[in-house]
Amino acid sequence: MEKLKIAGGYPLKGSVKISGAKNSVVALIPATILADSPVTIEGIPNISDVQMLGGLLEEIGGNVVLNDKEMTIDPTNMISMPLPNGKVKKLRASYYLMGAMLGRFKKAVIGLPGGCHLGPRPIDQHIKGFEALGAQVTNEQGAIYLRANELRGARIYLDVVSVGATINIMLAAVRAKGRTIIENAAKEPEIIDVATLLSSMGAKIKGAGTDVIRIDGVEHLRGCRHSIIPDRIEAGTYIIIAAATGEQVLVDNVIPLHLESLIAKLREMGVSIETSNDQVLISSSNNLKAVDLKTLVYPGFPTDLQQPFTSLLTRAQGTSIVTDTIYGARFKHIDELRRMNANVKVEGGSSIISGPARLQGARVRASDLRAGASLVVAGLIANGITEITGLEHIDRGYSHLEDKLSGLGATIWREKMTEEEIEQLQNL
Ligand code: EPU
Repeated sequence: MEKLKIAGGYPLKGSVKISGAKNSVVALIPATILADSPVTIEGIPNISDVQMLGGLLEEIGGNVVLNDKEMTIDPTNMISMPLPNGKVKKLRASYYLMGAMLGRFKKAVIGLPGGCHLGPRPIDQHIKGFEALGAQVTNEQGAIYLRANELRGARIYLDVVSVGATINIMLAAVRAKGRTIIENAAKEPEIIDVATLLSSMGAKIKGAGTDVIRIDGVEHLRGCRHSIIPDRIEAGTYIIIAAATGEQVLVDNVIPLHLESLIAKLREMGVSIETSNDQVLISSSNNLKAVDLKTLVYPGFPTDLQQPFTSLLTRAQGTSIVTDTIYGARFKHIDELRRMNANVKVEGGSSIISGPARLQGARVRASDLRAGASLVVAGLIANGITEITGLEHIDRGYSHLEDKLSGLGATIWREKMTEEEIEQLQNL
């Protein structure tokens, strides 16, 4: 087991290149199950979720070759092998195996997904969609059993706007008979990315990125080559880091349109930001103003940036209130920030941040992926050494984190944990 150490309190400078989007790639990899010849995906980030999904596709008979940032998946010999336990429990996105395997084999057995603990994360809308397409879905001892004689297009209204359900229903519907209409669909850029891959494979999809998606089922899908969109959450995290500590930082390979809500909030705080086609230039300021924030579905402020943004708010003058309308309990970072001397608390479903605070390095634990990102931001701001454990969460979503931050001049490194430290962590 390792821990991350940061010697904080120094300004960062230079440029950082953003990797392919985690929340796209975790759907793109399962989507390849639907093809009948090899698919190559370019821009693969170096994150553990990718390795986990690649391993799962191998378990069902796929031939997976990862060559630096390019993954080629040959789905020809895949079979509908039950995946009730093991790796599926380690990541959220294993739920995309349900839609993809149902779409190709008309049956699947998949363990309930794992991933970050952000409070209740039901998948009722995914199941509602599969059932509308003609599948029988049962939950037996922690695994979902899906079976259909045939899948038929249907009109499906999502009661909750859900990224996962929108993508999963698309995956199941592209090879169904007839037309599927998803109403009240999520509009996140990752949905467009998955629709682009499926279209290159021969699927007929219209309206991805709007709240009504129309899919005309086809019998076969073929292999193709696809390049992933840049990770807007990784980009947002570096933009926040730059706003918190940067003299001048250029974030490269980003689509600024995907981050309008973040950029607007940062400008409101007094951060200077310039955008071009695929770059964002950020200069920090010593006079940051407090702002209130509410997370919303896209194009609103992303829940995945709420936690890192909170660390930045500890530097702002005044009181900020942060409310997460997507995951009302996504506040596990707050206790850790308090250990670092932040003046923060959770009250009535919001976090309240009073600033500016002088953060101090401390021993803290990442309880989920973006809580980890918020501690990295705090560690870079804080004076002294911050030690972060729980790296398995951070490694699920940030490609080459230490290399990228070192490239900006940060002092950050990994160390092996002692047996005593591991025991202490396990007793928490
Ligand atoms: N919801 C339901 N029923 C469902 C599905 C969702 O009630 O069947 C609720 C959820 O509980 C939540 C809201 O709807 O309150 C939105 O959930 P959504 O389904 O959109 O989330 P997700 O697909 O499970 C993805 C990302 C998350 C990101 C959310 C919101 C992946 C693998 N995960 O999750 O990413 O927070 O969308 O944008 O794409 C992260 O990257 O750190 C992360 C957690």
